[in-house]
Amino acid sequence: MTNDATPSTSRPLVSPEPLMQMIQGLQGTAILRAGVQLGLFDQIADGKDRASSIAAAVGADERGTRILLDALTALGLLECDDGYRLTPLADAFLVTSRPSYLGGVVNILAGDWTWTGYPRLAEAVRHGGTILDQHAETPSHEFWETFASSSTGIAGPGSHALAELVEEWAGQRESLDILDIACGSGLYSLTLAAQHPLARATLLDWANVLEHTEVNVDRLGLRERTKFVAGDVFEVALGGPYDVIIASHIFHHFSERRCLELMCRLAEALKPDGRLVIHDFVSGSRPADDPFPYLFSVVMLAWSREGEAYSLDTYRRLLQEAGFSAPEVHGSQGMPSRFLIAGRAG
Ligand SMILES: C[S@@+](CC[C@H](N)C(=O)[O-])C[C@H]1O[C@@H](n2cnc3c(N)ncnc32)[C@H](O)[C@@H]1O
Repeated sequence: MTNDATPSTSRPLVSPEPLMQMIQGLQGTAILRAGVQLGLFDQIADGKDRASSIAAAVGADERGTRILLDALTALGLLECDDGYRLTPLADAFLVTSRPSYLGGVVNILAGDWTWTGYPRLAEAVRHGGTILDQHAETPSHEFWETFASSSTGIAGPGSHALAELVEEWAGQRESLDILDIACGSGLYSLTLAAQHPLARATLLDWANVLEHTEVNVDRLGLRERTKFVAGDVFEVALGGPYDVIIASHIFHHFSERRCLELMCRLAEALKPDGRLVIHDFVSGSRPADDPFPYLFSVVMLAWSREGEAYSLDTYRRLLQEAGFSAPEVHGSQGMPSRFLIAGRAG
């Protein structure tokens, strides 16, 4: 006979492994971040395979380097029998010269603010928004400079997906004036402009961020077809009217009320037959089926006053209230974001 009050000595039916991974997740991020910051993957790709030579090349202590290299091996980013080698994963995504380089994303999703923001997440939950003095809405925050220069690995594939989506429509137009609000790297509009000789791009962001955007403008040879607008997207004159307005990864910064205010501003700056292209993380499926937007909302809870990844229904409602048609919805190559493309309503 069993007695319900007797503590069970049998093992639990579930493994604690997923919990342990969450508990240790911070450590894995820190190890990867240090490897990227020190440039260890580049040195190994160059042929150095001993802790001593790698340490000397990056100007670090040999013992510290050995411990980090072994930890990177434990995480599956290196292999080590007679000397360290990159695994295919590290070779594809963590060597800076590779076109698929993703190391910059460490500076974004594990950027400086996260190491002060996440330890205070419970406070942000109690408060209902960021408790940081410097956050996503702080004008000219230097994190956005890091973002602009580190995001090309993810903005590249996304910007090509956008250009493909509007290709046919854009190719039939006599003009293609593009406004890219909160442009960061600027790649979303610059990639489109590079494919259409008639296109002109207006890039809007904080002045300190635009200095980093300019690097991509020059790299793509688009200086003569590009204008810059520096300042707050809620305040500065937007100019126009534009054929296309691109709003990539900006609406999740703000409350629904502010999103609507911004959409109304954009509607005024768009030609009657123009297109608004929103590119953002969109929630809607159940969290377990599509985790990314729900996890991203936590980023915005910790780092913005009122932002989050809004649902498709919310976007549809706000767009309608701002005078746009129901959006077409598309996936974004290489990103867990979606494109919503809307014209002005009748
Ligand atoms: C998440 S990044 C997105 C950058 C780019 N659109 C992309 O998708 O890669 C957000 C950008 O919005 C800019 N930003 C945030 N608030 C802004 C505001 N009120 N006015 C102008 N730019 C702003 C930041 O400087 C940053 O470049």
